[in-house]
Amino acid sequence: MRFIDLGAQQKRIRKQIEASISDVLDHGSYIMGPEVGRLEEVLGRYCGVRHAISCSSGTDALLLALMAYNVGPGDAILTSPFTFIATAEVIRILGATPVFVDIHPDTFNIDPSKIKLALSA
Ligand SMILES: Cc1ncc(COP(=O)(O)O)c(C=O)c1O
Repeated sequence: MRFIDLGAQQKRIRKQIEASISDVLDHGSYIMGPEVGRLEEVLGRYCGVRHAISCSSGTDALLLALMAYNVGPGDAILTSPFTFIATAEVIRILGATPVFVDIHPDTFNIDPSKIKLALSA
């Protein structure tokens, strides 16, 4: 059984995708080109913020957020164990220490009642 049918999804927007790829090939600005600027503008408006900054991956997005807070050696970052490895990886890349807080069985998010215990550890 195919759970994801990318072909069917693509069919609906194939012409737009091809036109956009063709535009990028024509202007040749593969990094930070006009499409990136437009995406950031639209995302910023959608989120109701003045600035949206795109990046290459989810891992980089996590890293950027921690760098914006000057996270580094000596810092402990509370995080969820119920996530992808990148979540803890970026904390270690910056020299900080990930502290896992167990999740709540109903929400699968960090259980707020366990934060105090994690902080004392
Ligand atoms: C929760 C979570 N965070 C971060 C990432 C990393 O994203 P990327 O593979 O784009 O670096 C993933 C990827 O699956 C993820 O599931």
